[in-house]
Amino acid sequence: MLSDALFARLPTRVKDTVDRWLEIASVFRELRDPRVARSLAPAGVRGLVLQRGKQAPTTTCPASHRAYFDWSYPSDHPEMRELYRRAKAGQWDGETLLPWQTSVDPENPEVPILPPQFVDFTILERHGIHLAPAERQRFLHSLVAWMLSQFLHGEQGALQAACQVTEAVQFFDGKLYGGTQVVDEARHVEVFHRYLDTKLDKLYQVNDNLFVIIDALMTDSRWDMKFLGMQIMVEGLALGAFGTLYKITREPLLKQLLKMVIQDEARHVHYGVLALREHITRELSESERREREDWSFEVALLMRNRFMAYEVYEEWFQGALPRGAWRDFIYAAPGMEEFRTVMFSRLVPNLREIGLLSPRVQARYAEVGLMKYAAGKSADQLSGDALLADLDRGGLTAAGRAA
Ligand SMILES: [Fe+2]
Ligand SMILES: [Fe+2]
Repeated sequence: MLSDALFARLPTRVKDTVDRWLEIASVFRELRDPRVARSLAPAGVRGLVLQRGKQAPTTTCPASHRAYFDWSYPSDHPEMRELYRRAKAGQWDGETLLPWQTSVDPENPEVPILPPQFVDFTILERHGIHLAPAERQRFLHSLVAWMLSQFLHGEQGALQAACQVTEAVQFFDGKLYGGTQVVDEARHVEVFHRYLDTKLDKLYQVNDNLFVIIDALMTDSRWDMKFLGMQIMVEGLALGAFGTLYKITREPLLKQLLKMVIQDEARHVHYGVLALREHITRELSESERREREDWSFEVALLMRNRFMAYEVYEEWFQGALPRGAWRDFIYAAPGMEEFRTVMFSRLVPNLREIGLLSPRVQARYAEVGLMKYAAGKSADQLSGDALLADLDRGGLTAAGRAA
């Protein structure tokens, strides 16, 4: 490890490079359980070290799961069948339903897409960076375009993963439902891309940590790991991010877009809970259950600590602001705090519900401040409308506490 004195004498760009490698090393150090490391480390190397998601406009991931056929077409899961019915009735067309004629100026402070309080500019000022009002607007434009770009890339991951889980799932009613989720995710890709392309005029590359999670669950051959990764973890992340932005944005087209997407996503997590609850609590061995419990904890930490918008940093402040100071700025941003609250108030109760929050790991969740969300409602107890009503009330803490 470099001494602080030596680090301080390095030129800023070298410091940035060293900081990046130290951060990558810390991600690998965090993977303490060897089975979790085996499943996440190869994706970590591809995403963080080789930056596969950024090297070319296209990437391929090898898939090795088994497609499961059932020629007897059983009606085998009434709750999934009901979800399938609701999903069919809830389909919408992003082209005709959303008010695309809305004129959007991402730098107009009168109709902010992100309010300035989303971040705390005084942290930048402490490092000698003073942005004029117009520059602040331009910066917020970059930040929201970064967030929405990651939503878009996450939706592409969800589209591909929804196809895989539809192939792999062994409930026939789950396959029928899965078909609707594939269409939902395609629609989400369509509307987020259209918004970025025609309203924000900006698209950022996929974040390395997001790429790691997507890569890990695309390449894992176990169907339940795909479900856990996609339907619980990434969908939980999506609900946190979409919910936060829905709550704070004043831009009407984006608000309506998010409202429609959130209603779909609520069904997706519900499906994940239904599929995994029985499997994890009744079919897996204790050792397999523990592996999934450790894996979820590590991925939850990755999602909490690692989305640092470095792509925006590189565009705005590289060379002018230490990378560590940027990290502090993003981590301390009130909007990011809100995002973590919304995300974990949804995610932790779902982990509890599917049997991955046993007393064995509760102390670890408590240590990182996440046990306070454990008594909340899980996705099978919350409709999309209830989720939105909660966000409209501004009831984040209420959502976290609701039992
Ligand atoms: Fe989606
Ligand atoms: Fe989804």
